[in-house]
Amino acid sequence: MKKIFSGIQPSGVITLGNYVGAIKQFIELQHDYDCYFCVVDQHAITVPQDRLELRKNIRGLAALYIAAGLDHKKATLFVQSEVPAHAQAGWMLQCISYIGELERMTQFKDKSTGKEAVSAGLLTYPPLMAADILLYEADLVPVGEDQKQHLELTRDLAERFNNRYNEIFTIPEVRIPKVGARIMSLQEPTKKMSKSDSNQRAFITLLDTPKQIEKKIKSAVTDSEGIIKFDRENKPGVSNLLSIYSIMSGKTIEEIETDYAGKGYGDFKADLAEVVVQALAPIQERYYELVDSKELDDILDEGAERAKLKANRMLRKMENAMGLGRKR
Ligand code: TYM
Repeated sequence: MKKIFSGIQPSGVITLGNYVGAIKQFIELQHDYDCYFCVVDQHAITVPQDRLELRKNIRGLAALYIAAGLDHKKATLFVQSEVPAHAQAGWMLQCISYIGELERMTQFKDKSTGKEAVSAGLLTYPPLMAADILLYEADLVPVGEDQKQHLELTRDLAERFNNRYNEIFTIPEVRIPKVGARIMSLQEPTKKMSKSDSNQRAFITLLDTPKQIEKKIKSAVTDSEGIIKFDRENKPGVSNLLSIYSIMSGKTIEEIETDYAGKGYGDFKADLAEVVVQALAPIQERYYELVDSKELDDILDEGAERAKLKANRMLRKMENAMGLGRKR
């Protein structure tokens, strides 16, 4: 069976962008692949985190994965720092990464430009991400568009390691959803929807109340044309809302355009808010049941054990290939 690995950072709230770009794909793919899904907490500490908040966010994200439909019997769900092989393999891959290629990562540039104290971890984060993926021999990595460059680097590092030491790594393919690979900010629709946006109205979180969702969608930036048509170039706001509508309702963009022919943005936004509220209601209900439960701990304990078994096998191969430790 082909394998999948993907991860999400437990850094604050989880947005509709994370759901569409990542979680929704995971749920669809879990039946056909051997899947490993991770709460990548070691990635989150590349920027300062409050320890109690981080702990809360780790549980919260794990609960959301399950609430959204991840079946822990089919897929392995675990917390990155509970499987030490990630940091160990990450170090080895750092040692074959070049500073120049890491400095070229757009995410590094975005997060570091203009900042005074930039952690070394922010620069060396992509080799850790590569380790996450390569340890599980992933064939496929479902992510949103913003992670594409990191995936290209992962492939480069895998090939470099295979050529230099031993052919042990599978070269992973990226999988980006056709609609919704890049959900945009509701306030500045030419910018990615991001959980770190200082404007709370720019993003919808999976735990927003119906009132919050209605307010945010109502205040979403559109244009003055009053026509509901997909045109990313000239109508980025409306196109973004159409993408969200399509994904959350299961209708195609063309169907929605036809449904709203001759109608205004007011009706469209009110219906979209209802679609999002309805789609998130069962996820939220299950989330609150799970988040403080022993059931969640049991799932994560079992996940970590399964992940360790798989990851440690590859870690040994990496150590042997590089000549670390003594021969075993
Ligand atoms: P992170 O935590 O920033 O985002 C998690 C996932 O959500 C996707 N995403 C979006 N998709 C569509 N529209 C958006 N506005 C949007 N915002 C976020 C991201 O593309 C991602 O798929 N480095 C990764 C986490 C990671 C990882 C990995 C992923 C660590 N190791 C190994 C895959 C494989 C990150 O920071 O994602």
